[in-house]
Amino acid sequence: MKVLIINGPNLGRLGTREPEVYGSTTHAELTQICEVSGAELGLEVEVRQSDDEGEIIKWLHECADVQLPVIINPAAFTHYSIAIRDAAAMLTAPLIEVHISNPHTREEFRHVSVISAVAHGVIAGFGMNSYRLALKAMSDLLVR
Ligand code: DQA
Repeated sequence: MKVLIINGPNLGRLGTREPEVYGSTTHAELTQICEVSGAELGLEVEVRQSDDEGEIIKWLHECADVQLPVIINPAAFTHYSIAIRDAAAMLTAPLIEVHISNPHTREEFRHVSVISAVAHGVIAGFGMNSYRLALKAMSDLLVR
C-alpha cells in the first residue's frame, strides 16, 4: 500500500529554517525517516514538497483519482488555503494533517486550520516524530 506525504511551503528549508521551532533535521533526512518508518509498517512512502499552491492541488487531484492515502503538512496554507481544503475534500482515501510544531501554542493566526475539518485526524507538536505517528495512524486506518 502506497502513501503520499505532501509538505507545503518553506518545509524544503527544514534544517536551517527557524531551528528553534522546527529542529535541525533537513527535508532530505525527513524523507528518509518517513521512507524507513513506512517500510517498517509495510507502507511504500513517497514524500513531495512544494511551495506552490497549484502544484499541491494538482497532486491532491491525482491522489483522488487513484484512491491514494495522503498525509499532508500544508504549512502556512493550513491557515488560509480554501483551495487546498476543497481539493482535500475530494480525496477518496484517508487524509491525515500533520504539523511539526503545535500551532495552538504559537501566534493566534496559526490557531485556525481550514484543512482539519476535511482530515480524518490531526497530529501536531511532536517534531519529526509527528510524521512517524501519522504513518502509524494511517497504517492502522488502512488495515481496519
Ligand atoms: C507548520 C506550522 C505552520 O503554522 C507553519 O506555517 C509551517 C509549519 C508545522 O509543521 O509546524 O510552515 O505546518
